[in-house]
Amino acid sequence: MQSFKRNILITGGAGFIGSHVVRLFVNKYPDYQIINLDKLTYAGNLANLEDVEKSANYRFVKADICDIEAMRQLFAEYHVDGVIHLAAESHVDRSIKDPFTFAQTNVMGTLTLLQAAKEAWGESYEGKRFYHISTDEVYGTLEFDGTFFTETTKYDPHSPYSASKASSDHFVRAFHDTYGMPVVVTNCSNNYGPYQFPEKLIPLFINNIRNGKSLPVYGKGENVRDWLYVVDHARAIDLIFHEGKIAETYNIGGFNEWKNIDLIKVIIKTVDKLLGNPEGHSLGLITYVTDRAGHDLRYAIDSTKLKDELGWEPSLQFEEGIEKTVRWYLDNQGWMDRITSGEYENYYAEMYRNR
Ligand code: NAD
Ligand code: TYD
Repeated sequence: MQSFKRNILITGGAGFIGSHVVRLFVNKYPDYQIINLDKLTYAGNLANLEDVEKSANYRFVKADICDIEAMRQLFAEYHVDGVIHLAAESHVDRSIKDPFTFAQTNVMGTLTLLQAAKEAWGESYEGKRFYHISTDEVYGTLEFDGTFFTETTKYDPHSPYSASKASSDHFVRAFHDTYGMPVVVTNCSNNYGPYQFPEKLIPLFINNIRNGKSLPVYGKGENVRDWLYVVDHARAIDLIFHEGKIAETYNIGGFNEWKNIDLIKVIIKTVDKLLGNPEGHSLGLITYVTDRAGHDLRYAIDSTKLKDELGWEPSLQFEEGIEKTVRWYLDNQGWMDRITSGEYENYYAEMYRNR
């Protein structure tokens, strides 16, 4: 059997961000074995990884991070020495409808994974690392006052999603403080790019414009999000996994704030342009709907620490990133149609038809 320099467990690798991280690691580190562990929930889609699935250093394991026996077995079988933990329930609207699943996967799943790592690594933490991927939403919400979330901003989550992520972040840090586990945590802003599940704003709206369907804008569309191209997040994860300081937190963001309604107009303009529609053609699809419960007003990340300490900066300007993204979804209609037709997941198709 081939032996590898490192054995890296990436959880949630069949999801949106995870698939970009798996792709980057499989291609960049042929001497690492990359084990992609995913339960394949509605959000997990192995079609996201078709280009790397035959690589000699890639393994896929279908399992649930809440299953302690499966996690123990996985650490032992693959001699895991590094974890990059992305598996989670990730959609705020779903968390409002079903908070228990979020507590189960995000809190108990993370704790289960930490426990399995502690048992496997207990003898010596040398050369080991547990990297937990989190969100800026744990910090709560900002006013329109030019302030930013920094690494020392007090946690103040509002949605069941952000509450569950906050709790998992605390457990990860507790495993460092209590058991000495070498951990690192990052909190990132909203990601966009290829392979994002079309329940999230950007892919949902691109697809609806293509199909002439209405664009449900929550409230007045005045909420602000800070958007980062997903490949830049994956680059940051690579850097921090290798060079980030143990027990540190790094914020990752693009200094790229957009009011939802302004962002939506950019998406409409870009899709219309690429489809050959006259400018303004799809503006009439905008439909203001009831606001999301507890909708956080503004997220904005200060990623100065990551830039100063590790030299990371986003590589893409937003205009370039959004055009690339729209082009990808329009060029990969088969990927989108397999999801929205329910070919791979009937439950979601039902929900999609009822929107
Ligand atoms: P996603 O929903 O696209 O993917 C999540 C993946 O986790 C899926 O493949 C799913 O099958 C898997 N998964 C879910 N429950 C599991 C379980 N119990 N066991 C094993 N696998 C399971 O999510 P995403 O947008 O790629 O987010 C990935 C991570 O990054 C999450 O931890 C999320 O909180 C964090 N994050 C996301 C964003 C964003 O903008 N999307 C921003 C900051 C942080
Ligand atoms: P989303 O992509 O769900 O990410 P998050 O809630 O994690 O920030 O939503 C981004 C923003 O877009 C958020 O302010 C909610 C808003 N939104 C809509 O207005 N309409 C929609 O249909 C969706 C999915 C989101």
